[in-house]
Amino acid sequence: MRVLVTGGAGVIGFELVRALLERRHEVVTIDSGIKGGYEDLEQLAARSEGRLKSVRGDFARDPRLLDGAFDAIFHFAAIVGVRYVSDHPYETMAVNMRTTLAVLDHALATGCKAVFFASSSENYAAGVDRGYVPVPTPENVVLTIDDVALPRWSYAASKIAGESALFGAARAGGFAPVVVRFHNVYGPRMGPTHVIPEFLERVRQRVDPFPVYGPEQTRSFLYAEDCGRALATVLDAVLDGRMAKGGLINIGSSLETRISDLAQTVFDVTGFHPRVDPQPAPPGSVARRVPDTTKLKSLGFAPSTLLRDGLAACWREGRR
Ligand SMILES: NC(=O)c1ccc[n+]([C@@H]2O[C@H](COP(=O)([O-])OP(=O)(O)OC[C@H]3O[C@@H](n4cnc5c(N)ncnc54)[C@H](O)[C@@H]3O)[C@@H](O)[C@H]2O)c1
Repeated sequence: MRVLVTGGAGVIGFELVRALLERRHEVVTIDSGIKGGYEDLEQLAARSEGRLKSVRGDFARDPRLLDGAFDAIFHFAAIVGVRYVSDHPYETMAVNMRTTLAVLDHALATGCKAVFFASSSENYAAGVDRGYVPVPTPENVVLTIDDVALPRWSYAASKIAGESALFGAARAGGFAPVVVRFHNVYGPRMGPTHVIPEFLERVRQRVDPFPVYGPEQTRSFLYAEDCGRALATVLDAVLDGRMAKGGLINIGSSLETRISDLAQTVFDVTGFHPRVDPQPAPPGSVARRVPDTTKLKSLGFAPSTLLRDGLAACWREGRR
């Protein structure tokens, strides 16, 4: 199989590339390198016996960087991160929509068996807070933008539009459309603006008292390496016919964790025990987020990394 992964230098893209190479696929990645981590990809390419080609570039600006035909495409490049998105809502919409349309146009022009679109639990988060989306949340729920004028919702707006564009293009192109809805995937290669790297950074700086925003909120966390395996499992299911027509699938862990417990686990793992300073959750942040992973489990996938082990790996990596 010849597979394209956009955003291959990212937290999830990189683990997917590794999982695809382990399965002996030929992989092309394209990434602008804006988030760093591009060297990891180059090192992986050097060890791949010619099966990984990495292209560095911004295909929102130059769609011609997408070159050649592929059996499967994983479109993961995007502007992400609540803080960055909140400060750059138009860039978020523009990049996320331009890259998605560029990938879909390319799939339509060159032909493809399956296109995977990286979507998000943010797409239904407002429905959880308003009480009409259940938790744990299955795939077939109403998607909602809470306040279209609030910059943070530009991200979910771009992801909802992307899901719709994917299904529309698949009708015209005859490929299997697969929406993978990620739920708090974390790993050692993550940038600084997510809850886990933020906690670890505060530990590094010995911040005491230690602010914890929205301690009563819950999330579920999936280690990036497990995420790579989950995606390879879904690809197998599309190819062997179990998900031949594509569809929506939640990628995440079903273990619900309070943010206060996450902080406690970080303290246990790092051996730093400050006084916790509880703070209100950021505006627009959903109270609970846990995916119903029945569909993913039915394909034979189960996460293998415990939260405390994943946190320990992130802590070790950050200290190198
Ligand atoms: N990590 C999560 O928990 C999570 C949750 C929900 C959805 N997602 C989605 O999954 C995908 C991967 O997420 P991630 O956590 O690996 O993010 P990430 O930021 O680590 O990776 C995204 C990659 O895309 C690249 N990129 C951005 N714009 C580009 C452009 N115009 N051209 C080429 N490359 C570009 C970046 O350089 C980066 O390496 C994203 O689409 C994200 O929205 C992730």
